[in-house]
Amino acid sequence: MVSAFAPGRLELIGNHTDYNEGYVLAFAINLGITAEGDGRDDGTIKLHNTEFGEDSFQVNNIDKNVRTPWANYFKGVLFQLQQAGMSFGGFEATITGTLPSGVGMSSSAAVAVATALFVQKLFNLNLGDLTDPVVRMNLAVLCRAAENDFVGVKCGILDQATSLLGRKDHAVFLNCRLGTAELVPLHPDFCFVVCHTGVKHMLLSSKYNQRRSECAEAVRILQMNKIPAQSLRDVTFTDIQQNAGLFQPRVFQRAMHVTTENERVLAAASALLQSDMLTLGRLMYESHASSREAFENSTPFLDQLVEIAGTLPGCVGARLTGGGFGGATINLVYRTHAESFMTELMRLYREKSGKEPQAWIVEASDGAA
Ligand code: GLA
Repeated sequence: MVSAFAPGRLELIGNHTDYNEGYVLAFAINLGITAEGDGRDDGTIKLHNTEFGEDSFQVNNIDKNVRTPWANYFKGVLFQLQQAGMSFGGFEATITGTLPSGVGMSSSAAVAVATALFVQKLFNLNLGDLTDPVVRMNLAVLCRAAENDFVGVKCGILDQATSLLGRKDHAVFLNCRLGTAELVPLHPDFCFVVCHTGVKHMLLSSKYNQRRSECAEAVRILQMNKIPAQSLRDVTFTDIQQNAGLFQPRVFQRAMHVTTENERVLAAASALLQSDMLTLGRLMYESHASSREAFENSTPFLDQLVEIAGTLPGCVGARLTGGGFGGATINLVYRTHAESFMTELMRLYREKSGKEPQAWIVEASDGAA
């Protein structure tokens, strides 16, 4: 019996910056997905998902099945492994998880990463030395391709890279242009509370891909006007402001969000290095305001959670985390206040919104194994 575990991730700050080749601070968490099973000698792959059901197919015929969309995250990785020249036989795998789906903790990337490591272990695939961060980043790229090309979500590298490169008690600082990851220690007196609005977010059906094209549109306009930019990473918010007249208001706002967010991530990384948690918290609130006003990927429920968090003792920062359009917030809280903060946040939110929230105290954890 072989088993692989991949953690979910939390985006600390750096919202929709990854596919714009920018910066992100994130960490792997102590909740995740496990893929466990054994080989079969009949070329059949059988999947059992304790949350979603079953699927089975032939190893030489990996195709989408509309009745089991959850399995596409699994199949996408198998397909990409085959494309990369890896060969493997049939198997039976059970997928279980402690990570809720649709919350914004990246269960889909965790499924993809767990799949890759499970198949690697079962068939001894030569993916390289997995203690090498470069090898892990390459595997993250393969898992992202599975989501981009097979599932159809044009996500960036944040989720897969963090799941593979996370480290206990550390955040991962990603430079998405260079494809590098640096570890930044987290402050021991603080922890993170995740609070789910009670409204699921689904990247596949959300406006995620639309936001991505709006960012590409901003780059196209810059290029048409002879402003050299390969991506929004190449310009600052001052460049965008000075050329405001070139953009439609919507595209201008999206570009302002991404360019200011990149600045916030850099400031957040240095705040963290100096143990300046109040500055980190302030940047988180600013990030949320920018999502709400400029990127328009927040919702009234996420806004309510952030607003309530700001009134509670012990909380120094709060923002939506992940794709947005539903899902959860991340709250930076003094460890001593975490339990009471969580209880009060849920109580007040339930009262105001009429929705049923869920919350977790999460710890920064090691990457997939
Ligand atoms: C989702 C995507 C990531 C990233 C975030 C927003 O989690 O999967 O690649 O774009 O949204 O920052």
